[in-house]
Amino acid sequence: MTHRDNAGSVGSLKFVTFLVALSPVLLLLGARVQLQDNGYDGILIAINPQVPENQNLITNIKEMITEASFYLFNATKRRVFFRNIQILIPATWNANNYSKVKQESYEKADVIVTDWNGVQGDDPYTLQYRGCGKEGRYIHFTPNFLLNDDLIAGYGSRGRVFVHEWAHLRWGVFDEYNNDKPFYINGQNQIKVTRCSSDITGIFVCEKGPCPQENCIISKLFKEGCVFIYNSTQNATASIMFMQSLSSVVEFCNASTHNQEAPNLQNQICSLRSAWDVMADSADFKGSLPWKGSELPPPPTFTVTQAGDKVVCLVLDVSSKMAEVTF
Ligand SMILES: *[C@@H]1O[C@H](CO)[C@@H](O)[C@H](O)[C@H]1NC(C)=O
Ligand SMILES: *[C@@H]1O[C@H](CO)[C@@H](O)[C@H](O)[C@H]1NC(C)=O
Ligand SMILES: *[C@@H]1O[C@H](CO)[C@@H](O)[C@H](O)[C@H]1NC(C)=O
Ligand SMILES: *[C@@H]1O[C@H](CO)[C@@H](O)[C@H](O)[C@H]1NC(C)=O
Ligand SMILES: *[C@@H]1O[C@H](CO)[C@@H](O)[C@H](O)[C@H]1NC(C)=O
Repeated sequence: MTHRDNAGSVGSLKFVTFLVALSPVLLLLGARVQLQDNGYDGILIAINPQVPENQNLITNIKEMITEASFYLFNATKRRVFFRNIQILIPATWNANNYSKVKQESYEKADVIVTDWNGVQGDDPYTLQYRGCGKEGRYIHFTPNFLLNDDLIAGYGSRGRVFVHEWAHLRWGVFDEYNNDKPFYINGQNQIKVTRCSSDITGIFVCEKGPCPQENCIISKLFKEGCVFIYNSTQNATASIMFMQSLSSVVEFCNASTHNQEAPNLQNQICSLRSAWDVMADSADFKGSLPWKGSELPPPPTFTVTQAGDKVVCLVLDVSSKMAEVTF
């Protein structure tokens, strides 16, 4: 629920700019994910060398993506799923019988697992600074997010969280919640909850317990200590960019269910358009019809590879590119 999505993290921007200056070729090679016959191929998930060895990370990544694939397939009305995934483990882990890396590298990954994140806590986030409908740079998870099952109660299952982040990364849609502005005043001067869809229910709670909405309001401002508690049982099926942790939520907000009044990033960055409308305009959706037949797609397959000591290769690569530029 409390996802933090960095639309423009300066630190990370610098990092990417540095790579561009170093070697544009490295970045061009990053565009490896392909959509073919409704399935994504070639997604790279990389674990940072500073993350201590833990086989449960690999197990949990596989479970997360497998669940995400079916959830995504249903939420996109049978348009897309995850077909194969590469998991890159670092050279710092004990060599096992993993195949050695060919050309994958941590810097090119679509999903990174690292404690270094520039934001606090275990909130997953997607580095997305290019705007509405544009692809982001990567999804970030902390090792603790992937290992600690106590976090599932707040965020929802990891598969659902992955689909939320994937929508940021792949289609450039944004959060429909706003932790800084959980309420707003609509055109009719009523206090409303920042949510999508507006059909999601709950109750206002004042300092001393449940209260009528009016008691939470002092001269149009929300009284300190008042919160809106969402019912755990809902009928609303949207939206994944709002609160994927609710079990009833299995869809994105579309033109009929989208809340245009809510002060959230989706409305700000995507000019009040619904997440589904933005996704429907993507090359992925325009290029693929819903999957034929009534059966489910196969579960994703995984290849685990281990990085070698790449330092020397990287230096050689860079210097040869520089040589090319010079001559
Ligand atoms: C798939 O989505 C539909 C709504 O489009 C929903 O009614 C159904 O429960 C979902 N199925 C699963 C398995 O999530
Ligand atoms: C290593 O190989 C064995 C036998 O082929 C297999 O059962 C095991 O899962 C492999 N381990 C890893 C980490 O891939
Ligand atoms: C859900 O919220 C509504 C108010 O929006 C309330 O009337 C209802 O009793 C709640 N239902 C449950 C099951 O908590
Ligand atoms: C949810 O749907 C059921 C069945 O249609 C209905 O009885 C119930 O009142 C609805 N609950 C809410 C909070 O709208
Ligand atoms: C939006 O989604 C709802 C629920 O699945 C559906 O009934 C409605 O037709 C959809 N509206 C549009 C414009 O696609």
